[in-house]
Amino acid sequence: MATVVDSRASQSTPVFDADPDAFRLHFNRTSFEFQHRLVGHPLFELPRLLELARDTSRDRPKDLYYDAGNVRVDQRWDQTPRASFSVEEALERIENCGAWIILHKADKDPEYAALLNQCMAELQTLIGLDLDRVMKVQEIILFVTSPLRVTSYHIDRECNFLLQVRGEKTLSVFDQKDRIVLPEEELERFWSVDHNAAIHKPEHQNRAREFAMTPGTVVHIPVNAPHWVKNHDNVSISVSVNFQFRDRMLANVYRANYALRKLGVRPTPPGRSGLRDLLKSCVVEPAVWFKNVRNGKPPWS
Ligand SMILES: [Fe+2]
Repeated sequence: MATVVDSRASQSTPVFDADPDAFRLHFNRTSFEFQHRLVGHPLFELPRLLELARDTSRDRPKDLYYDAGNVRVDQRWDQTPRASFSVEEALERIENCGAWIILHKADKDPEYAALLNQCMAELQTLIGLDLDRVMKVQEIILFVTSPLRVTSYHIDRECNFLLQVRGEKTLSVFDQKDRIVLPEEELERFWSVDHNAAIHKPEHQNRAREFAMTPGTVVHIPVNAPHWVKNHDNVSISVSVNFQFRDRMLANVYRANYALRKLGVRPTPPGRSGLRDLLKSCVVEPAVWFKNVRNGKPPWS
């Protein structure tokens, strides 16, 4: 397929092909599928990804993650098998080394930054929101995955659009409002103390929407919608275009509820009372400032 978006070429052809009415109706409410035109784009060929991986490893090692081995759907991310070889070797042996490679913040590279800008401009039009007012961080993440690898079950704070560029895989996405699948307690732990707080419940797998992702597919994954991936018997290359909402207050309410539940209280979930949420957030806010400063982060992050 022809190159569609390249910072050195015309940017007139849209990346996304979606129904705007359906998009606005379902955005961040439920997962849904639409199409993109990045299949065959040179930024997602393995030699270019190898170059990016080398740059990331050298300049921004914290933005590179890779592992290798068998991973279960219910495996915590901090218990996955680390690879004993370099990321270059992982990419060169991707067909058979059982690896999962993540290149965070690919948009630090100007070519990927240009692509991110185009994607975000199109998404803003489709969503019908001034994203600069509601968004605090945006990013492109690249995933390169060996045949048959599983990406274990988890939730994210990002609002995600997952683009399949090469290979096929099955993506299971659950409803973030389904409290049988995702109890309040897991959300409170996720936002407070444990990014691996969401626990896969195999007896509820039938409550997931399963997307058969092929090159050209995009699936929207709302904030906190649980998901996991089973790669088919092929190398997979995927792109996450994602952003974080200004979610400080939501995070603070979950943090307050986490503390209240430890005290034996059954807290009211966020979103039921604006005043109650505001009070909880104000009470928690000083502790969040202190923790951020102690960890060397900006207090408002
Ligand atoms: Fe994810």
